Amino acid sequence: MIELQDKEYWNTAWDKYFDHYQQDLRHAYYINAFLNNDEHKILEIAAGSFRDFHLLNKLGRNCFAFDYCENTVKKAKKLFPQYQEKISLQNAFSTSYQDKEFDFSYHNGFWGCFENEQIIQFAKEQLRVTKKRFAFTVHNGHNPEFIQYFDKLKRYDVLYAVRFFTLNDIYQIINALDIEIENVKIYPVGKYKKYLEDELILQGKTDAQTIRNCIENQKFNNLFTSEKLLCIVENLE
Ligand SMILES: C[S@@+](CC[C@H](N)C(=O)[O-])C[C@H]1O[C@@H](n2cnc3c(N)ncnc32)[C@H](O)[C@@H]1O
Repeated sequence: MIELQDKEYWNTAWDKYFDHYQQDLRHAYYINAFLNNDEHKILEIAAGSFRDFHLLNKLGRNCFAFDYCENTVKKAKKLFPQYQEKISLQNAFSTSYQDKEFDFSYHNGFWGCFENEQIIQFAKEQLRVTKKRFAFTVHNGHNPEFIQYFDKLKRYDVLYAVRFFTLNDIYQIINALDIEIENVKIYPVGKYKKYLEDELILQGKTDAQTIRNCIENQKFNNLFTSEKLLCIVENLE
């Protein structure tokens, strides 16, 4: 995991993964499904491939995004010239944004590169710039098959040496941020591009309400078979 904290690692890694990542847009649809009508200005933190940021803007959302890796920021500005001004190079520990500048902020896979101490610092900055709700998506520590799959892959590729989170891991972080557990909604998402919400996306049935109903209706039924946990912290105002 330590290599995933190194900017030089990401500068090289994005040469390898940037284009490939653009092909899997499921997470942007999950976020789009949960955005409320009064959430107008959105921020993606540590956007990596900037794929979610791009799709959300295409879907009519007003989304901004940053990463601290020069290489991927350069690539994103080149691939998405129409949204150049919304892309920036910043460090998630301390950004240039105003307090409460964004109605909603999110990231996907970012916390998986870090231990709790650093995550809490990142979360404090995310809380500072976010007005209404913030989201974080992490790899699901309750899915043994998915963990084993990553364990195999990480022997050859450090990208897969990502941290998985259980519900308890998440509650520990939430507690450290002085957020009430009742204000956190957790949704197991990601069905290997095949089932449930992923099947809908595959079939082009991507409207927000359809995807949201599908995810909400599952409750925790698919905790042990979903790839990720999408966590939304509410009532920040
Ligand atoms: C797992 S990737 C995120 C992938 C992204 N969600 C996507 O869909 O492409 C983690 C990202 O965090 C970025 N990162 C790591 N530390 C950071 C920091 N302190 N500030 C901003 N970005 C950081 C890395 O450059 C990398 O792009």
